[in-house]
Amino acid sequence: MDHAADTFRTDLMTITRHVLNEQSRHPESRGDLTILLSHIVLGCKFVASAVNKAGLAKLTGLAGETNVQGEEQKKLDVLSNEVFVNALVSSGRTCVLVSEEDEKATFVDPKLRGKYCVCFDPLDGSSNIDCGVSIGTIFGIYMIKNQDTVTLEEVLQPGKDMIAAGYCMYGSSCTLVLSTGNGVNGFTLDPSLGEFIMTHPDIKIPPKGKIYSVNEGNAKNWDTPTAKYVEKCKYPTDGSSPKSLRYIGSMVADVHRTLLYGGIFLYPADKKSPSGKLRVMYEVFPMSFLMEEAGGQSFTGKGRSLDLIPTDIHDPREIPDIPRQQRQRGGDQGAVRG
Ligand code: AHG
Ligand code: MN
Ligand code: MN
Ligand code: MN
Repeated sequence: MDHAADTFRTDLMTITRHVLNEQSRHPESRGDLTILLSHIVLGCKFVASAVNKAGLAKLTGLAGETNVQGEEQKKLDVLSNEVFVNALVSSGRTCVLVSEEDEKATFVDPKLRGKYCVCFDPLDGSSNIDCGVSIGTIFGIYMIKNQDTVTLEEVLQPGKDMIAAGYCMYGSSCTLVLSTGNGVNGFTLDPSLGEFIMTHPDIKIPPKGKIYSVNEGNAKNWDTPTAKYVEKCKYPTDGSSPKSLRYIGSMVADVHRTLLYGGIFLYPADKKSPSGKLRVMYEVFPMSFLMEEAGGQSFTGKGRSLDLIPTDIHDPREIPDIPRQQRQRGGDQGAVRG
């Protein structure tokens, strides 16, 4: 006999239900993180919908401004940033926001403050927007001791202090991957329900992978150990088969594939970017947190990525004229939004 349950899943683990379950493991919790996450989820749905109609709604192309990294902002970079800033501020649960697209940290109006700092890359993979290739949003969340007296120093915490991180990939389907420090779970947006449904419970990275992922166009500027490592992926000397190369150019998509299929994703430092290209607070930390929670590893080349202590919210931005210690410190409290 046919059961509805054979065709339809009738007991859905929505992301809200999952986060509430997680919350109930902490009886002292007042639901602040749950509320914050639901605002982030709303931001992801909004951006997913904008991405879907980007070509139709004239959302492709440049916005006309340059961000702090010296990159030309795309319209979707600017729109997504606005969406997330509004969603985060209106949650009433954040005190500081750090975004790739805002030069200064945003200190939320004291009336709307909560205890969390959120670092985010509103639209990751901007170069892939106009050709319809997967892009995403990345976020990492810290708890701040005192929201009323928070300073920038407190925001520059090592990644290991993060309490939650995630990304949303706007791809062939829209997938949100989240960890609140108790493993990693993946949710797929059901557009007809407007809900993220758990489709990838307890993600663990496969222990062995057959894929390496790197922009080989930079090979001329690599150092010898990096060049040797990649050479070995192609010409193994231990009798194993060569690895396959996959590289999308959106960190979210490259990390997502690595998480599900295994292997290695790397963006090594090179002569052009001596500290690497990936941004510590809103790319490296959240992705490293997820990788470790999924049983993987993340290294800078010298040590564990999550042990890094950023000195600037946009690390590793290189600004020759301003010494690192003077950037965004002391009296410069950044922008305030409410
Ligand atoms: P963003 O679009 O947020 O600026 O990030 C782009 C990043 C990251 O997504 C990706 O891994 C890397 O830049 C790709 O760089 P290349 O184009 O140099 O390979
Ligand atoms: Mn960018
Ligand atoms: Mn990015
Ligand atoms: Mn970006």
